[in-house]
Amino acid sequence: MNLPELHTLIWDELQRGASPTRSPFTIWQLATLALDGAPQLRSIVLREADASSGRLGFHTDLRSPKLAEIGADGRVAMLAVDLDRHLQLRLNGVARVVQDAARIRAMWTGARPHTLILYKTPHAPGTPIAQPEDGHVPPQASGDGVENFALVEVRLERIEWLDLTPNQHRRARFERLQDQWQGQWIAP
Ligand SMILES: Cc1cc2nc3c(=O)[nH]c(=O)nc-3n(C[C@H](O)[C@H](O)[C@H](O)COP(=O)(O)O)c2cc1C
Repeated sequence: MNLPELHTLIWDELQRGASPTRSPFTIWQLATLALDGAPQLRSIVLREADASSGRLGFHTDLRSPKLAEIGADGRVAMLAVDLDRHLQLRLNGVARVVQDAARIRAMWTGARPHTLILYKTPHAPGTPIAQPEDGHVPPQASGDGVENFALVEVRLERIEWLDLTPNQHRRARFERLQDQWQGQWIAP
């Protein structure tokens, strides 16, 4: 496999991860820079992967601390692994909250109801509560929660592929330079 073929294969994996069928590249660890400069990590579900623009998308709560962090510094790192195939994908990019109301509405209406219920919770994620039940959605909650729903887009700047299949270790890096992806094999 040459580097252009590997680049295509990586985007196939990202698109499969973002599809409803799910794959090992559906759940990602997303790193931001916290407001105090420390690294912060959390899991997110990949919802969009567009090879032509080199962008990924995920949902989050507009009230969540990660959005304040992204607002202050949009640089993020993402990581996911496929344990069965000994693969790691490690990404860097710049995140921003999508402002296009039609796109947000399309994402909201296309999402499964159980994923959207979270957005109806009265408390912002991370708010201290007296007991776990206080964080549940009250039966009388009004509205659908769309006002708390955000679509975040990550414009990738760097993609790193690591394949630790026994006896055929391979590692490659792709960097976006003047909007062209430049690939390079690197030592595992
Ligand atoms: C399996 C799994 C999937 C998750 N997916 C998302 C997601 O797509 N978006 C999201 O904002 N949080 C998701 N979370 C919750 C985050 O990991 C995190 O706890 C929450 O968003 C608060 O993060 P913050 O305090 O850094 O803003 C997920 C958690 C798990 C365990």
